[in-house]
Amino acid sequence: MKNICCIGAGYVGGPTMAMIAKQCPDIRVTVTDLDEKRIAAWGAGTPPIYEPGLAEVVRSALGRNLFFSTDTPKAIAEADVIFVCVNTPTKTFGQGAGRASDLQYFEKVARQILQHATSDKIVVEKSTLPVRTAEAMERIFHSGGGSVHLEVLSNPEFLAEGTAITDLERPDRVLIGGHETATGRAARHQLLEIYARWIPRERILTTNVWSSELSKLVANAFLAQRISSINSISELCEATGADVEELSRAIGTDSRIGPKFLQASVGFGGSCFKKDILNLVYIAETLGLREVAAYWEQVVTMNDHQQARFVRQMVASMFNTIAGKRIAVLGFAFKADTGDTRESPALAVCRGLAAERAAVVISDPHALDNARRELADLGPAVAFETDPYAAASGAHALAVLTDWKLYRDLDFARIFAGMEKPAFLFDGRNCLDHAALHALGFNVYAIGKRAWSHL
Ligand code: UDX
Ligand code: UDX
Repeated sequence: MKNICCIGAGYVGGPTMAMIAKQCPDIRVTVTDLDEKRIAAWGAGTPPIYEPGLAEVVRSALGRNLFFSTDTPKAIAEADVIFVCVNTPTKTFGQGAGRASDLQYFEKVARQILQHATSDKIVVEKSTLPVRTAEAMERIFHSGGGSVHLEVLSNPEFLAEGTAITDLERPDRVLIGGHETATGRAARHQLLEIYARWIPRERILTTNVWSSELSKLVANAFLAQRISSINSISELCEATGADVEELSRAIGTDSRIGPKFLQASVGFGGSCFKKDILNLVYIAETLGLREVAAYWEQVVTMNDHQQARFVRQMVASMFNTIAGKRIAVLGFAFKADTGDTRESPALAVCRGLAAERAAVVISDPHALDNARRELADLGPAVAFETDPYAAASGAHALAVLTDWKLYRDLDFARIFAGMEKPAFLFDGRNCLDHAALHALGFNVYAIGKRAWSHL
């Protein structure tokens, strides 16, 4: 194999292809996208997304065997393997609006591949897709009546943002789904041989196509479910005097439960969890599996509730009015170490605060451009400030919404001195030292913990 093409240079396509190019110097990898600005940024070795360690990996292969281009037809024609990494957002219109995946970009790409493929190719679904999408893709491929054979594989990506590079270097597993036919098995083997260059073979799982497609949705649903489960318990903790962190430790040491993804928070965000669960719910509904759909929908309902009750608690503890009060929001990204704000809980919280007519000042080390874009409709109700000290100056309250490490190291005595009194701090990530903050004079409210109040 000599040539790989990847269509879609986003959070998934860019890092994944950079890693393949780094690990396989003999394979030529071309990543294409409609977005010229994105391609120019990648091609200059300055990725358009913030991801620790990514620029180094890109630069290690750029111009050697890693190329970025907007000429998708040419890249398709030259490729032996085509990865499809275009986005598959939740539909906003028509049937399944708000739940089903919008497959229009994906289908356009399938047609584009059919049009420009002049030799046999392996087409890899990397985007997260509803189960049995490969079947639709194959129907399109077979509609041309041409002699070219396009073999479809499913190879979902499990990387998490912020840790994409280590996740790609040392994944828990790589999943490759293919058809149980001679061409399907051969294609699966070819893709497996690429990953086997740097990933132990026992970590590369092969399945049929439908299992692979569904595994991605289910993995995200299970991860999100753990967060909603612990978040539901956080409310119970606040009502009973139990401490959710002590609870996470107590249950997480049971090896059957395990310690990960039990961090109570203001809610999960990111481009995947909500979208994938709603997609799972939609698939279950269309198959008439009402109980299954209702079961998984609760994970999203609980997440919405967690965000709404965070705002309610802020208002209630600040004497039932925040109108005209300056509130500094520390962190807007959906998690630390990314500039991504898609589905960030900060969106719902800031909108909730603005609806109460607070003067919201948002600070974030990497997400302010995205925050400005996402909240453009709020106009002067929100302001943006890179420096967290400037954001906090004159504020009645701080709300920590992203667990950036830098917030742990802030000089809170200095911040407290510059705030209105009584000064409030709402820790939506349980990432600060609440006893120490209370000792400085703050009234501290965290998730699933007793309040540290002077009032
Ligand atoms: C990924 C996955 O692919 C998606 O299925 C998953 O559920 C979320 O993560 P991501 O890489 O985060 O998507 O999306 P994004 O950053 O939006 O990148 C997609 C890219 O595809 C964009 O740069 C877009 O310009 C490009 N694109 C889209 C094309 O090049 N051609 C198209 O026809 C459509
Ligand atoms: C997720 C999956 O982890 C990844 O495998 C998949 O490929 C894409 O979706 P990502 O959304 O990038 O990755 O980040 P993740 O680390 O899973 O965090 C998602 C959200 O959950 C973040 O908002 C995070 O802050 C929150 N979270 C995570 C919690 O609130 N508590 C936890 O214990 C863990």
